[in-house]
Amino acid sequence: MSSTQIDPEHYRAFRRFLEQSCGIVLGDNKQYLVSSRLGQLMQREGIPDLGELLRRIQERPMGGLRGRVIEAMTTNETQWFRDNYPFQILQELVFPELVKQNKQQIRVWSAACSSGQEPYSISIALQEFQARGGRLEADILGTDISPAMVTQARLARYSASALNRGLSAERRSRHFHSVEPEVWEVRPEIRRRVRIQQHNLLESYATLGRFDLIFCRNVLIYFSAESRHDILRRMCQQLQPGGYLVVGASESLARHNDELEMVRTHGGVVYRRRPPVRR
Ligand SMILES: C[S@@+](CC[C@H](N)C(=O)[O-])C[C@H]1O[C@@H](n2cnc3c(N)ncnc32)[C@H](O)[C@@H]1O
Repeated sequence: MSSTQIDPEHYRAFRRFLEQSCGIVLGDNKQYLVSSRLGQLMQREGIPDLGELLRRIQERPMGGLRGRVIEAMTTNETQWFRDNYPFQILQELVFPELVKQNKQQIRVWSAACSSGQEPYSISIALQEFQARGGRLEADILGTDISPAMVTQARLARYSASALNRGLSAERRSRHFHSVEPEVWEVRPEIRRRVRIQQHNLLESYATLGRFDLIFCRNVLIYFSAESRHDILRRMCQQLQPGGYLVVGASESLARHNDELEMVRTHGGVVYRRRPPVRR
């Protein structure tokens, strides 16, 4: 299926399907992206065009095809300690602040965690905080819509080239061990705090519980302003008062929510849920 062959009506229907299924909004002229991401899958399945693809998904909504299409359309790009400053803010501001709030055990959510670099980076940041005397422990939940990413994140094994993306040699030798040539595994003391689960951000958060810290980075950029607003509003409801929300470097949300205040430090911004007003 080449991008020029995509029927405009099929393209419109596919955009609706994708946005309703996972929030991702495709621009007017992203036919090339659809054909490059889905071409192989459709060829393998003998599906001639997008119209037929949607018809098959509709016919068997719980079949595996729907998930594989969504999976192919997501961008899973990630790295260790991405942007650096959020992890510095954790160690220098967020963790000490939560200790001051008399927390001993916090709950952390890394939403849309891809192959696990983000939740394991948070766990390493906490391990380093503890090594400097910080008395705090955490349960870290990593979630992603993609079953392949969930499997990779649970495995916690990375190639040397994946580790090179953002990880210093010192952190690598301290927090990973080699399990076979060119494959490294996250050490048990970092891994034990992290649990990985499949979850779609468009669905309810009630079963996930409340959190002291939420990371939601580099995923809402693919969504409409309306979905972004709705997701951030619902995430805020899952935050404990005084809890922190960290979004991507380009994803400011000051105008989204009165319950959050901006905390500016170390060249970056995080948000804190205001405590309830006492009358
Ligand atoms: C670019 S990665 C970001 C990973 C990590 N947060 C980071 O900043 O490095 C975006 C991730 O969002 C996931 N994703 C996309 N739509 C989603 C949805 N509706 N619910 C949950 N995860 C979603 C994708 O599968 C992908 O792994």
